[in-house]
Amino acid sequence: MLRQGFRSLRTLTGKSSEIYHRVSDQVVTPLLRRYLDPEVAHNVALDFARKGFALRHRPSPMEDRVNVKISMSFDTTIHESNGDNNSSNSNNENKRFALQFPNPIGLAAGFDKDGEAIQPLMDMGFGFVEIGTVTPKPQPGNPKPRMFRLADDLGIINRYGFNSKGADAVEENVKAFRQTQLRESSELESKDGSSIMSFQSIATAVFPTPKPAQGLLGINIGKNKTTEDAKTDYVKNILQLGSYADYLVINISSPNTPNLRDLQKAQAMGELIQACLEARKRLSKPVPLLVKLSPDLTTEELKSMVPVLRLVDGVVVTNTTNQRPKELVSKHHVEEMGGLSGAPIKDKSTEVIRQLYKEMNGNVFIVGVGGIGSGEDAYEKLKAGASVVQLYSLMVYDGPGCVSRIRHDLATIMDQRGHKCLEDIIGRDHEEIFWRKQQERHEMSLSKENTMIVE
Ligand SMILES: Cc1cc2nc3c(=O)[nH]c(=O)nc-3n(C[C@H](O)[C@H](O)[C@H](O)COP(=O)(O)O)c2cc1C
Repeated sequence: MLRQGFRSLRTLTGKSSEIYHRVSDQVVTPLLRRYLDPEVAHNVALDFARKGFALRHRPSPMEDRVNVKISMSFDTTIHESNGDNNSSNSNNENKRFALQFPNPIGLAAGFDKDGEAIQPLMDMGFGFVEIGTVTPKPQPGNPKPRMFRLADDLGIINRYGFNSKGADAVEENVKAFRQTQLRESSELESKDGSSIMSFQSIATAVFPTPKPAQGLLGINIGKNKTTEDAKTDYVKNILQLGSYADYLVINISSPNTPNLRDLQKAQAMGELIQACLEARKRLSKPVPLLVKLSPDLTTEELKSMVPVLRLVDGVVVTNTTNQRPKELVSKHHVEEMGGLSGAPIKDKSTEVIRQLYKEMNGNVFIVGVGGIGSGEDAYEKLKAGASVVQLYSLMVYDGPGCVSRIRHDLATIMDQRGHKCLEDIIGRDHEEIFWRKQQERHEMSLSKENTMIVE
């Protein structure tokens, strides 16, 4: 009896527990959706997460059976000053680095625009959380209402228009996140070495709680609405926020900022990326630079940007679409202006992933995003060429438990189909490229390439 009581209390602490899923996903999320305006519901959900109502993900036994870690390799120069700021005598050598994603399911940009709930979102089970889009100066975004649910299609239309508290406020948040991370890891280290039985250590033994998750932090950057020379805004953001990020994303694909998507034209994009790469050299730590693309690009446009995309370390594919597929069944809001996301864009964004992977001959790290609703959807994007995936709209319809579910489902698919690791899936739709890459991987593991892991 007592044992059973303990057991149910223990499941209460686990994010993958039945009780957690029932309460958060089957009661709270539908209530928020039913009674609150979408933007208000989103703010309440973010506030819940920030205040620690979301419990920590506990990997299911199935997840432990497969390797879901994946590395992004990138070359960069880091600014190694010799301490004399006025001296030109600094050692700027180009080196190869690797950033390791603990699991391939991430939270897409736009959910936590100002970086207010980074650790709780990681604790939910996201292997990486992309905050932003951040603009250098604070700006309110478009007038409300600016977010609409197409419930019958499991889609969302938004025209937020980069509402951002600005880089100064975001810097405070990411700085606090990094400080807490440092403190917690040193506390854990000292606990590991201690043999004293504190009350807390006894409580932890009875009700084991997973450690705070060590996910990666992506910072997605944009420009202020009124800035004429976009480059200056992206460079400012990189210099101010870059050192706090595990990776940076140049967002040039939001449909809600006038003329932003013009920066996707090969020449403009080339100039912007060069400026961002120069700025990145001035950071004191190696940070990969990615670009986020729209799903509305034609094949020709995509082809024309390939040489420029080779300059960056990865591509986020895709943002929301301006188009309205004729298959939409929702009666309300379909005509609202803004970017459509969720289930209706799933195939379109997967197709862009597939095309880009093929055009780049498999030599690209793709973050696949758009309409993921299940482990099978994530698997599809990985096969098309994504190395990791992200989601946003699913959180609105399924609640925070969707992360645990998708992690478990993907692991189950991998186990059932005989894939031991993610590299066994990535790009499988492209047979020739896939087997060439497997061969390269094998040769590389033999030669033990000289790559540094970013800590
Ligand atoms: C309400 C909302 C706000 C968003 N805001 C941003 C943003 O600020 N920056 C960005 O790069 N993408 C933003 N996105 C796009 C998402 O990051 C993602 O690319 C897109 O929604 C497709 O994924 P999904 O179908 O899983 O939602 C937003 C999406 C939604 C639904």
